[in-house]
Amino acid sequence: MSTVQKPPARLEQPTKAWTTQPSKKPRRAAICGLIIEAFEYFKLYLATCCNHCYVYLVKEGLTWAERIFWLILIAVSHYASLYIAMQSIDRFLTKNAYMGIERDYFSWNTSLPSLTICPMERLDREVFNQYCHSHYITGQNKDDLWDLLEHLANSTYMNFQDIPNHSSLEGTLDKLQLKPNKYMELIYNLTVDHTLNPVDKLRIRCIDNDEYIHSRQVLTEYGLCYLTNNNIDDRYSSKYLLFGEMPEYSEYEIKHNVRRIQMGSYPDKYIDFNFIGFQSPIDVYAHSSYEVMKVDNNYGYTTENLYYEPFSPEITTDHNFETEASVRQRNCRFSHESNLTHFPVYTKNICLQECRLNLVYKVCKCIPHFYPNRLRKPKPVCDYKTLRECMPQHESYFLKLYRQRPNSKKLDMAPCYCEQNCRGSVLSLKVSLYTRSKQLYGSYGATMTEKEWPTVRYKREIYLTFTDLLVYIGGTAGFFLGFSVLGVIEIFYFFTMRLLFHLFGYKL
Ligand SMILES: *[C@@H]1O[C@H](CO)[C@@H](O)[C@H](O)[C@H]1NC(C)=O
Ligand SMILES: *[C@@H]1O[C@H](CO)[C@@H](O)[C@H](O)[C@H]1NC(C)=O
Ligand SMILES: *[C@@H]1O[C@H](CO)[C@@H](O)[C@H](O)[C@H]1NC(C)=O
Ligand SMILES: *[C@@H]1O[C@H](CO)[C@@H](O)[C@H](O)[C@H]1NC(C)=O
Repeated sequence: MSTVQKPPARLEQPTKAWTTQPSKKPRRAAICGLIIEAFEYFKLYLATCCNHCYVYLVKEGLTWAERIFWLILIAVSHYASLYIAMQSIDRFLTKNAYMGIERDYFSWNTSLPSLTICPMERLDREVFNQYCHSHYITGQNKDDLWDLLEHLANSTYMNFQDIPNHSSLEGTLDKLQLKPNKYMELIYNLTVDHTLNPVDKLRIRCIDNDEYIHSRQVLTEYGLCYLTNNNIDDRYSSKYLLFGEMPEYSEYEIKHNVRRIQMGSYPDKYIDFNFIGFQSPIDVYAHSSYEVMKVDNNYGYTTENLYYEPFSPEITTDHNFETEASVRQRNCRFSHESNLTHFPVYTKNICLQECRLNLVYKVCKCIPHFYPNRLRKPKPVCDYKTLRECMPQHESYFLKLYRQRPNSKKLDMAPCYCEQNCRGSVLSLKVSLYTRSKQLYGSYGATMTEKEWPTVRYKREIYLTFTDLLVYIGGTAGFFLGFSVLGVIEIFYFFTMRLLFHLFGYKL
């Protein structure tokens, strides 16, 4: 009974205020009146709109206990639907990809893994002699300079301590005006790119019978090496990384029907390639054809040819995977989506290289010469003495990107976050020495032979499209609140057109 009487009692108060203080505060009273009016209109909305439960908040004849019960229920439903909708939105924005498995292996092409080979003798004697001749460097000075440059060209995190420190070097470098930031350029000048060697036997080449597979000279953390059978575009090459120019096409490759990548499929018995033409002992890195070498993941110095038997299920992507989701949504990057500062292409290992160079820069205040450094404000490059002194102390920290804190179990992680590659392969390798093959091919090198073909492959796919997201949110809201698009339109209608008519006196 009491609830029935209450609304009129409440309506009385403003009229009282209106009558007792008409002159003192007319504006305040007017505003109060407006608010009451608006509230009444809102009540009218609750009583008539299509979200059925709201009506219990204002319906005449209900007790306050019932109204509070409904209010709590409505609040809980709103909270629940908001919570679940936020979860869907979060999933859409940050975890919007999953990996499925494909099994129809008969129709796939699987790419063979890639090889990076670093020759263990780097500079060309003849070019060096010419260089010394034109710069008037002779005798012991010349030998010392060769020693330094050969070691710089051959240096990586594991052997910086071998860099020589002859007394004559300082004078020679002064005379040549060779600053640390020119080390790599000079090494590049004194190295001959043997993929372009006109003599067939001496050319570094990747062959399958009489056909070539594209190979190129690249700049790695182990100096200038040679890469073959790789999916990353030609911006990942020594010339582009050092000078920003695309490497020229090799006429020999074109003559031999070059292919970019060696692929095989299930019906093939075996597919192979030989990467040969190296005239000195080599160090070999085998890695996925969507990746680059990782400097501490090598076979090691070898004077025999290597023979690899890989097994490499691939990770592919759905056809709309790249366009339908941003990097943040899918948590992976394609190689052309680089956001790195030193490198124009992205792979996880290249990103780790950038982490490493930033770490070295933080610790030693300069970076080694074998990193591309074509920035607007290049980082300072370490001279040979700093390389000798600073690097070896922190070798494992630089390589692993973490270290154990002294007297504590905690790990010191280098600040580094690298997204995965969208496309890649899960590589497992068997490697053996291929004895006496040097006689067979007339040079050092490695062979890759895939005999077993994967019967599964992984596929990254989009989890939610934008339409799915709408359906998710709408479904949640409908489930908890009985909410619909027409309901939204009704709100809009009620507070625009209907309000206007209401003000003109067309009451419901
Ligand atoms: C697989 O490779 C062969 C030869 O390299 C090519 O003819 C064929 O079109 C490729 N198939 C697919 C599905 O890419
Ligand atoms: C280059 O470095 C490797 C590994 O540190 C070493 O085995 C090799 O002898 C070096 N080459 C030269 C010419 O010093
Ligand atoms: C390398 O060679 C280029 C072209 O021959 C020359 O312009 C450049 O000065 C050389 N660099 C060094 C460090 O000698
Ligand atoms: C590249 O993007 C990742 C996140 O996607 C970020 O963590 C990283 O700092 C970015 N790198 C640079 C150099 O901006």
